[in-house]
Amino acid sequence: MLFDPAFFRQIKGFLNHHEGVALYRLARKASRKAPCLEIGSYCGKSAVYLGLGCQENNAVLFSIDHHGGSEEHQPGGAYFDPSVYNRELQQVDTFPHFRQTILKSGLKNTIVPIVCSSQVAVRQWKTPLGLVFIDGGHSYESAFADYTAWSKFILPGGYLLIHDIYQDPQQGGQAPFQIYQQALASGRYKALPMIESIGILLHQP
Ligand SMILES: C[S@@+](CC[C@H](N)C(=O)[O-])C[C@H]1O[C@@H](n2cnc3c(N)ncnc32)[C@H](O)[C@@H]1O
Repeated sequence: MLFDPAFFRQIKGFLNHHEGVALYRLARKASRKAPCLEIGSYCGKSAVYLGLGCQENNAVLFSIDHHGGSEEHQPGGAYFDPSVYNRELQQVDTFPHFRQTILKSGLKNTIVPIVCSSQVAVRQWKTPLGLVFIDGGHSYESAFADYTAWSKFILPGGYLLIHDIYQDPQQGGQAPFQIYQQALASGRYKALPMIESIGILLHQP
């Protein structure tokens, strides 16, 4: 059931199946060493692919999101979806959708939701990670803050993955591409072939 593209199609999100299968494979490899972590759960699409990889090693995926949506998800934004807007709270709230995805996918013992800003979650973080997938806020400030805060926990031989990398500004925002270039310039990573818009960086041992 789970690798049926139809299962993934009904999860709201911003990832295609080809990218998702790449996340699954990388998480399956990385989680042999240490837990995996993503920033930007939204309704759980990437979490399920990553979680399936972690599940094979009895490892866990930490999935961080304040669930209030990024700028483009707010009313009037290009990616606003009224079905994830909580009228009573008067704000976007994707957490109920995320939770439903986790339950439907059978990954409740693999995916650990962390419901707060990524900058709060990192404050007392100590755990080394096998893989970090950055897909949270897409402003430069937000993407850069996630890169600097979380990449230092990646073990040698682990992966830094960055979603929505577009070299051509006509295709999409440039912040993910900028942090990808900064990571490469640090000399700590080797670039592996991209899968669609996912940049894949191997932390060199
Ligand atoms: C592009 S969506 C993630 C898509 C998801 N990975 C998927 O597969 O569909 C970005 C998410 O990042 C979250 N976000 C933005 N800034 C954040 C921050 N500073 N801390 C935690 N979550 C954040 C938003 O609430 C939004 O749900």
